[in-house]
Amino acid sequence: MDAGKTSLVGTGSPYESLAGLAGSHGKYFGTAVVHDVLFNELDPPHPDLCAGYAAILEQHFNLLVPESEMKMANVWKSPALIDFSKLDRIATWARDRGMKMRGHVLVWYRSLPPWLVAGYQDGTYSKEQVATMVAWYIDQLMGHFRNSYPGLVIAWDVVNEAVGPNDPRVAPSYGLRPPGIDYQTKGEDFWRLTLGDDYVARVFNWAHDADPDAVLYYNDYHNEYSNPKGEAIFDLVEGLQAKDVPIDGIGLQCHFEVSYLDMSYPGMDFSLASLGDTIDRWTVSGLDVQLTEVDIGRSSNQEARQAAFFGELLSLGLRRDGVSAFVTWGFTDLVSWRADQSPLYFDRNLEPKAGYQAMLKVLEAW
Ligand code: XIL
Repeated sequence: MDAGKTSLVGTGSPYESLAGLAGSHGKYFGTAVVHDVLFNELDPPHPDLCAGYAAILEQHFNLLVPESEMKMANVWKSPALIDFSKLDRIATWARDRGMKMRGHVLVWYRSLPPWLVAGYQDGTYSKEQVATMVAWYIDQLMGHFRNSYPGLVIAWDVVNEAVGPNDPRVAPSYGLRPPGIDYQTKGEDFWRLTLGDDYVARVFNWAHDADPDAVLYYNDYHNEYSNPKGEAIFDLVEGLQAKDVPIDGIGLQCHFEVSYLDMSYPGMDFSLASLGDTIDRWTVSGLDVQLTEVDIGRSSNQEARQAAFFGELLSLGLRRDGVSAFVTWGFTDLVSWRADQSPLYFDRNLEPKAGYQAMLKVLEAW
């Protein structure tokens, strides 16, 4: 791999910067970032890749999201120990370059410290104790950023993916995921089990207590277009607002596939028009909207459609008044959780793909 010699990076043109262009309209253009790539800690080492990766980050983004480094299972090592080391390096790097961060994520049913689950199962911790500990964890994590990096985190994903999927075998009635410990095969939610049916509200209140100035988001997928799970998420948020729970924003993940555009199921409308209407509906509900995890999977003959989709999504999303950020889930197909679908807009050699050009065009024409 020859990541060092990308054609784009280092051209020095301020106009060839996605974030430069988006930022001139007061918007964030962001990406998920992986600590070990940014800081050249891959095993085996890959210094060219890491240098090229860092250069693109610096040139094109004004908002970074740790892809996994802030997830509870990765930082909460034992009852009284939160390991901030990787987060501190990312935060310092971002701050020193004038970038902002999204906090991702405080509570997610898929990220559980093993010692906490084991402690609950063997009776060491009661439900009440789990609640006290989670409130402490949130206080420590948000307090760390508030004290050490004031103003750096412009949005916190407080709760992620609390609502069950569109698969009737998993969630026969749409709503919160079922309470339980088996998230992998049954989609069960440990937080609903231990913190109760109103856990989303509780966690938002804890986050607000930890930092009353923080901007608090609920983040999920299939809330970007018209479909039953999306309705369940609207209901959830409406319920929170009715109870004056401090929620400020909605994260629309946008993990898409090109083939979604051809999808036709009763009750679902995955069209660009539906995406736009849904974003507007969220705005009308009083929430700030961010597209938080954009990637667009494709099969090998869909490169042109993928590029067009990136351009259209950026255009219909970020140009709306209610939308403050367009964040992609990585930028190179080499560093992606869905690498097999090449879902991003720089290729494996860190060369820009057609999707990059499509987005640049949208931003330049804005
Ligand atoms: C994913 C990461 O990309 C993977 O590397 C990790 O193994 C699992 O989590 N929704 C989210 C993200 O909110 O946190 C997930 O990130 C992708 C789906």
